[in-house]
Amino acid sequence: MNKLDTALVNSALKEAGFSLTASVKDADAVLINTCSVREHAEQRVFSHLGHLKHIKKSRPDMVVGVIGCMAQRLGDKLLEHDAVNIVCGPTQIPQIADILKETLEKKQKRLAITEKIRETTETQNQVLEEFESAYGIESSTNFHSSTTPSQCQRDKTRYHHKLRQSSLKIGAGKIPSQAFVRAMRGCNNFCAYCIVPYVRGPEVCRPPEAIIEQIKKLASQGVKQVTLLGQTVNSYKYKIGNRTWSLADLLDAASDIDAIEWLKFVTSYPSEEFFDEILQVMADSPKVCNYLHLPAQSGSDKILRAMNRHYSAASYLELLDRARAAVPGIAVAGDFIVGFPGETEDDFNDTVELAKKARYKNAFIFKYSPRPGTIADKRLQDTVPAEVKQKRIAELLDVQEKISDQLSRDFLDKEVKVLVEGLSKKSHRNIAGSSDNPQLVGRTETDYIVVFNGPMSLAGQFAKVKIIKTSPLTLFGELI
Ligand code: 5AD
Ligand code: SF4
Repeated sequence: MNKLDTALVNSALKEAGFSLTASVKDADAVLINTCSVREHAEQRVFSHLGHLKHIKKSRPDMVVGVIGCMAQRLGDKLLEHDAVNIVCGPTQIPQIADILKETLEKKQKRLAITEKIRETTETQNQVLEEFESAYGIESSTNFHSSTTPSQCQRDKTRYHHKLRQSSLKIGAGKIPSQAFVRAMRGCNNFCAYCIVPYVRGPEVCRPPEAIIEQIKKLASQGVKQVTLLGQTVNSYKYKIGNRTWSLADLLDAASDIDAIEWLKFVTSYPSEEFFDEILQVMADSPKVCNYLHLPAQSGSDKILRAMNRHYSAASYLELLDRARAAVPGIAVAGDFIVGFPGETEDDFNDTVELAKKARYKNAFIFKYSPRPGTIADKRLQDTVPAEVKQKRIAELLDVQEKISDQLSRDFLDKEVKVLVEGLSKKSHRNIAGSSDNPQLVGRTETDYIVVFNGPMSLAGQFAKVKIIKTSPLTLFGELI
């Protein structure tokens, strides 16, 4: 989600005459797009701001803006930071180019957030929609994401406000042929631990025609894979007359666009609503990838209740059974939080049991981090000691790694179809590269990461790869 916002901002600023610089030191303005989901993400932003404060000693005119969730959460408190000139929440992002220009001229501090984020207006939603439609056409391909987009991350962007085409680095991190398209914003779920509803506002589904139009434009520019984004994307619904569009309808309509070959969607919430319809379209349409990111968060019913998640461990596993019956070969990824308030050893063991039964291809595992203003923070004490959280995360990671390893091994000697992203960021010692045959990385339709050697011209293309070696999170192969 955050990376998509960074890409939209990049596009809007490019159109307004800004260009990216190679180094922070050359920039007239630095924008940091932020995430508030865990405290650690915010601490890293403060450490960057400390560094920028230092740079500003010799470059006092440099403008520093903090945009996104942390801006909305901390507001004027963040503006008090010596390094910060602009604080701009997610709802004000469409105004960022004007805000930046004004601040560069007037050198005044600027706060642009929504006072009552749960009460966003029709006009605000309209402005966000127009911004998304205008800049989501090429921009959503303009970022590199090696993690799933649902995992918010801090993105730092450096701008030079004079247009220098030669220094334009906006497309530098682009994944050719892939785009992310938002299906919905915000969230109404109020999971007890989660800050998202307080910083991103209420759930708003985008009109299906705007989404499909955007995908058509992306397709005409060579995009082959579109990933639809939403905090609970499987609950997407939009009423037009007597008809209610679901995610299944969106996927079905997007499947009709010739040039689009793969469709993915993240993140799903474990609920009955539309679940079977979505599985059906996955089973029926060869374009809808057999991949589901379905966070369980915990395997203990007591903790799930305390988290305000509306399912039990058994009903969650039943959804997975149904998914595997409807779509054989489907790959599932999950998220867990360990050390939620009140989590006993027994509760944690229930989580380990669920992980063993769920057999995720991979799982994102986090230590509970209290977020100010959330239900858990207001009503529950962070009772699980840090060392216990550490022990539990290590144990769960270990269990998951073994499962991921077993599932990866099933690919040995098999051929997979991969959409090639480009050069592999990490260089894997077991694959020797050369300049005309470098180490490339791509993903399968089930979201497995595949590393192999091949010509750079394959970036953005589909390739067939034979798997010759595996690790828990990566498949290594040879181009066929
Ligand atoms: N502490 C730890 N992890 C959290 N997540 C969300 N809020 C918190 C929190 N307060 C995790 C959840 C979610 C993922 C994006 O981040 O697992 O699925
Ligand atoms: Fe947060 Fe829950 Fe909404 Fe996901 S569904 S964004 S965890 S409140």
